[in-house]
Amino acid sequence: MSDFQPLVFSGVQPTGNLHLGNYLGAIRKFVALQENNDCIYCVVDLHAITAQLVHDDMPGQIRAIAAAFIASGIDPKKHIVFNQSAVPQHAELAWIFNCVARIGWMNRMTQFKDKAGKDRENASLGLFAYPSLMAADILVYRATHVPVGDDQKQHLELARDIAQKFNNDFSEHIRRAGHGIDTMVGEEAVHAFFPTVEPLIDGPAPRVMSLRDGTKKMSKSDASDLSRVNLMDDAETISKKIRKAKTDPDALPSEVDGLKGRPEADNLVGIYAALSDKTKEQVLSEFGGQQFSVFKPALVDLSVAVLAPITGEMRRLMDDTSHIDGILRNGGERARARAEKTMKQVREIIGFLQ
Ligand code: TRP
Repeated sequence: MSDFQPLVFSGVQPTGNLHLGNYLGAIRKFVALQENNDCIYCVVDLHAITAQLVHDDMPGQIRAIAAAFIASGIDPKKHIVFNQSAVPQHAELAWIFNCVARIGWMNRMTQFKDKAGKDRENASLGLFAYPSLMAADILVYRATHVPVGDDQKQHLELARDIAQKFNNDFSEHIRRAGHGIDTMVGEEAVHAFFPTVEPLIDGPAPRVMSLRDGTKKMSKSDASDLSRVNLMDDAETISKKIRKAKTDPDALPSEVDGLKGRPEADNLVGIYAALSDKTKEQVLSEFGGQQFSVFKPALVDLSVAVLAPITGEMRRLMDDTSHIDGILRNGGERARARAEKTMKQVREIIGFLQ
């Protein structure tokens, strides 16, 4: 039985400052996956206009994400780094998926409800269709594995539903055109055009929380800049933010169980563990019984040691826009060739003349 070639795809929106949560939760995972996989990493600029059409310095925002990928260690020669709008096939497949997905499916998306808020009638149609474009991003390469944060799980389930409905509804056409692949979906052998995408959710720190409130995720959109460590922060700013991070008055526990009900302590220990490639148990065996006045300076030193080289490289890349633009252009060309191969087959399956 033939099967789909494993391929990793993920995307990051060019909106706001990248922070430690993005790095530990996503980008570091992207870097690890490139060792043993073919990977495509995309700056999703088409998604960035769904919530807000006009952005200050869109080109700078796009370059910053690409620079963060590369500064963190992604190799743009072996893999593909590009911006979404450079490959119009994403939008073309998204339109087809708009005709596959049902309004009832979209109505269940919790992120749309959160982002649209109370004024749903005034949200853009693009924001509503966002998950359909996300499915197209992945499936236009027939990608199989998608590293994301756990807030994106529902969108990936929708991508599976879209792929499955397309495979079912066009099963005869797919067979006739000879573009299908024999694969297994659970226990069942099927002949499919699109693969079943697998989310890769776990990582060293799937959830990095706000430094001001350990129950909220660290976020680009939090009004307080003290709530997050940005990838472009200098050592002094990182130090200030960690020293000011909210904590409780108790010493650190010696066991992970002792972090229960202490979200801020849990978050800082989790960050230390992720940055040092240790488990929380190991961190607590070192720092258990110590006050935050000891732990925080250690966390500052570690954060600066890990982030400073990345920040430095990002700055260097951002200063040379022609270099970064060249990387994106080259990635875009390679992505376009692969996406067009899929789209030719999709058009043929549907029956469009071309
Ligand atoms: N929606 C994702 C996020 O906000 C970004 C994204 C867009 C994405 N297209 C994607 C992630 C495709 C993975 C695969 O994080």
